[in-house]
Amino acid sequence: MQKVRLGSSNLEVSALCFGTDLIGSKIDRQTSFRLLDLFREAGGTFIDTGNFYASWLPGCKGGESETTIGLWMKERGNRQEMVISTKLGFDYPGCPGGLSAAEIERECEKSLRRLGTDRLDLYQAHRDDPETPLDETMEAFDRLIRAGKVRAIGASNLRAWHIAEANTVANANGWARYSVVEQRHTYLRPRHGADFGPQICINDDVRSYCRSRNIALIGYSTLLQGAYTRPDRAVPLQYAGPDSDARLAVLKGVAEEAGATLNQAVIAWMLQSDPPVLPIIAGSQPAQVSENLAALNVRLSGEQMRRLDTAGDPEIKQAWLR
Ligand SMILES: NC(=O)c1ccc[n+]([C@@H]2O[C@H](COP(=O)([O-])OP(=O)(O)OC[C@H]3O[C@@H](n4cnc5c(N)ncnc54)[C@H](OP(=O)(O)O)[C@@H]3O)[C@@H](O)[C@H]2O)c1
Repeated sequence: MQKVRLGSSNLEVSALCFGTDLIGSKIDRQTSFRLLDLFREAGGTFIDTGNFYASWLPGCKGGESETTIGLWMKERGNRQEMVISTKLGFDYPGCPGGLSAAEIERECEKSLRRLGTDRLDLYQAHRDDPETPLDETMEAFDRLIRAGKVRAIGASNLRAWHIAEANTVANANGWARYSVVEQRHTYLRPRHGADFGPQICINDDVRSYCRSRNIALIGYSTLLQGAYTRPDRAVPLQYAGPDSDARLAVLKGVAEEAGATLNQAVIAWMLQSDPPVLPIIAGSQPAQVSENLAALNVRLSGEQMRRLDTAGDPEIKQAWLR
């Protein structure tokens, strides 16, 4: 699998990232190992997890995903080949959440232990923490980097202005800055005012900020839980409407021309977008993961990308772009 440099960080990762929130919980250990093997055999090295995955499931208390990844890396002896991204910020049993210095130090140690490693390749703020001063958070992250426990830091679910402010504070103090941004992103566009709770979508502001500062963009919820292809999964209400109808029609046409499934066309579109958005792919069954991995073989032409990009745009914008 092709490798890419993550923004201005020194991390080189596979072109696709594997999402693991349900690994070792809803997905049993044996299947989890099989899915991770599949990703690794395809050349995948980049894995996304989080300290509190999957504490929201009955019988889970958080840490299940990290622990399972740790066991898999130990059994396969492949820690050195993998690039592990984990996050903190949400509360879960034994952890109040937030981005205070104490919390960052404590949760880092817990994640290191569960993953069975001595460093986190990418450590991300999973959400905003308005209660903690930005300089406290950024200094705490920087301390972890200086101690060799973390290689790079990222921001997930923070608004563009907030990421910019945090990086300004970091720059002014000579601390490490966020070199990665991970937000919700798929081909369909959320309706104006759509509410995803703490999740923040990629928008024009974050795109333009990240491009100008060489910050890598990572997208999650890429396939809307399978809604592009599965009759049992409705397109979430936050996306429903004429814009999505227009975009789905164009997506279907382009996927057919490219000999790709709709899921693969979405992943290929993200990879080829400008700026590119590195897709997190996930699945609970090997066939799903294989289908998603095969999106790497889909090459969309410039004309197909333009059609996909502009689908649903009001005529006036299309005229402006010409
Ligand atoms: N930073 C953040 O705040 C944040 C938030 C959410 C997620 N994430 C990351 O992103 C990862 C994925 O999140 P997500 O679950 O929301 O992603 P998603 O791409 O929207 O959904 C993945 C689910 O879609 C179904 N699916 C996947 N491939 C399919 C295929 N080819 N055909 C049919 N169905 C398919 C599977 O559902 P079933 O298993 O039910 O069959 C799979 O579990 C998480 O594991 C996590 O690592 C990060």
